[in-house]
Amino acid sequence: MKILFATFFLIISLSLFSQDISINNGWKFKTGDSAVFASSNFNDNDWAPIKIGQSWESQGYENYDGFSWYRLHVIIPSSIKDKAFLKERIRFDLGKIDDGDEFYLNGNLIGRNGGRPGSIKSGQYDAQRAYTLLLNDTRILWDKENVIAVRVWDGGGDGGMYDGKYGISIMDVTDYVNINTSDNNFEFGENKKMAKKILLQSTSDKYDFNGKLRITITDPVSDSVIFKQTIGTDFAKDRPFEYTYKATLPDNRSYVATYSFTENRSGKEIAVSESIPFVLTPKTAATVKINGPNIFGVRPNAPLQYAIPATGARPLVYDVINLPNGLKIDKQTGIITGSLTSKGDYKVRLVVKNKLGSATKSFTIACGNTIGLTPALGWNSWNCWGLSVSDEKVKASAKQMFEKLAGHGWTYINIDDGWEDANRAASGEIVANKKFPDMKSLSNYVHGLGLKLGIYSSPGPRTCGGYLGSYQHEEQDAKTYGDWGIDYVKYDWCSYGNIAPKNPSLDEYKKPYTLMREALNKVNRDIMFSFCQYGMGDVWKWGAEIGGNSWRTTGDINDSWGSLSGIGFSQDKPAPYAQPGHFNDPDMLVVGKVGWGPSLHNSRLTPDEQYTHISLWCLLSSPLLIGCDMSQLDDFTLNLLTNDEVLAIDQDGLGKSARKIFEKDNIQVWVKPLEDGNKAIGIFNLNDKAQKTTINFSDLKLSSQLRLRDLWRQKDLGVFKKSFSIAIPSHGVVLLKTHAEKM
Ligand code: GAL
Repeated sequence: MKILFATFFLIISLSLFSQDISINNGWKFKTGDSAVFASSNFNDNDWAPIKIGQSWESQGYENYDGFSWYRLHVIIPSSIKDKAFLKERIRFDLGKIDDGDEFYLNGNLIGRNGGRPGSIKSGQYDAQRAYTLLLNDTRILWDKENVIAVRVWDGGGDGGMYDGKYGISIMDVTDYVNINTSDNNFEFGENKKMAKKILLQSTSDKYDFNGKLRITITDPVSDSVIFKQTIGTDFAKDRPFEYTYKATLPDNRSYVATYSFTENRSGKEIAVSESIPFVLTPKTAATVKINGPNIFGVRPNAPLQYAIPATGARPLVYDVINLPNGLKIDKQTGIITGSLTSKGDYKVRLVVKNKLGSATKSFTIACGNTIGLTPALGWNSWNCWGLSVSDEKVKASAKQMFEKLAGHGWTYINIDDGWEDANRAASGEIVANKKFPDMKSLSNYVHGLGLKLGIYSSPGPRTCGGYLGSYQHEEQDAKTYGDWGIDYVKYDWCSYGNIAPKNPSLDEYKKPYTLMREALNKVNRDIMFSFCQYGMGDVWKWGAEIGGNSWRTTGDINDSWGSLSGIGFSQDKPAPYAQPGHFNDPDMLVVGKVGWGPSLHNSRLTPDEQYTHISLWCLLSSPLLIGCDMSQLDDFTLNLLTNDEVLAIDQDGLGKSARKIFEKDNIQVWVKPLEDGNKAIGIFNLNDKAQKTTINFSDLKLSSQLRLRDLWRQKDLGVFKKSFSIAIPSHGVVLLKTHAEKM
């Protein structure tokens, strides 16, 4: 069987996580801090109700950082012990908490920060909190009301009990079983054949396991079972059970595989599900195609670098007709360099040839005050490497971008936090740490590939990762960046919170960004400026006027549906402010292998969620910054990042963001006007189940007859009168473009 993929998707349903008592609802909340909030006698009647599973920022506590408390009153019936085969421990699952927490039961401190040592202030925001107690622990009040109190610390950005799994359960033998779906990848062969190896593992020194493993593949749209198999299993800690199942999928779309294990002694069943990846983007053709935007902005006299993005069988030969004086094209690499002295729109024609033929494209070099006329396409180190970023990792990413993505328009290689040395030089100059031995040579390497290099800092004395920021060294840092050949600066508020007054005025929000923009303007380079202050003071209303090429509109993203959908679908408010050169930034992409530190995992988003992610970000005209390890780009992730018709929506020269035009029954329709007069339409299913939906064109204020094209499949769907009907899997999308052809 031919291996086409190197990817897999993790658990989407977590019945593994069987809970006896649900604690999803009924929580009370208060900002601030007091020891009495832990007590079971404390009267919390006047506390505000709060939802868990989402940040407090999304529930009316905008920008709140510091301590807060969650409380819940819950009866723990002793009957839950009867159902368990093992009667040893009880477990309280409290989800993920941003950033740190202490868990109190009936006034008693049970644990801190997910059981990790250290203070609540150094919390692991992404760790699932699970606290366990022996069943005979007297702090549990069986058959009576118990008070759960959770003290939370948030150091910045979003905060609270924001995601994860919640419940109280008696731990049972099945808690020692792991259905491992992630050590092995899906393998795909000819004729829709697939195979997948799964492992049953025991984490217990005490117990051996016997039981049945049931494998089912279902079509999430029709709910019909398309494959099933049951096998007897037998395994122990040193003896995992391995099984490779083989199936044939009926179609190239979403299917869900479920693995359930029924344990013989207890009769308990645990199950995990994973979605099977499916590639929609057609293979890149051998014939030449010129991709990327139709326009590129440059300032007068600033050094210009534009690598013509083109695909097709190599070698490619590049040329530009009407290239203005001052610019030259390298015909082998396709890189345009030089500088322009006079402002104006220079209309040129790009020409690329290979042995199969040639392609041409009209292109405008817009020399003026505005750069970044279409959103940045690139990579940033944060969502994969976190503070463990290094010169080697950055170079490896640049090489991969050059080989696999540059032909589709991807350009920026951005170093996030973690590059700075502990001290400045005696001259006050910022210095890179040991992981970055020579910034100038790194930037030469990146530029040599036709790519651009970005860097990260904070207006405060320290970055969010605790490294040196630019406070009181703004001009000096801007000059250093210029000397190194930096093309993009991400500027993260972080410790500037201690410099700015407690409730900053609009001017105070603007101040540090204006200061750095002015410093960057003094450098003779076109440096893109990315504001990272999480949307404070409605930054989208003033980001453009003080020279931001993009501004983050929210806190940090992570690879969960809660985070992705919470951020992505709340972007209608800033949407009207997107314009050429100035874009809303709902944070970086979480596809491929991510991890925020040295160890990485496959994005926990399902394939449908990842299609939603890219489609929505393109509709929003958002900067697209890949957040994964580029050296491990698998076929599915590549398919997400190399669909030129989808990327063209993001790169459209009109520079407008889609607006949410329609919303009903968890279906949302976002519509983006395009430069050619057509519209891009995203129909999203936010439901936990597949849905069939009919979209009436009149609800979208579109004409009653439309020719539609499916952008992911790059396929014309035909002409539709009045409406369009489609079944969309859970959290999936259909991305369409209307066509202006006469009907
Ligand atoms: C956060 C920021 C992240 C990343 C990180 C670095 O505040 O939102 O994108 O830059 O800091 O420490």
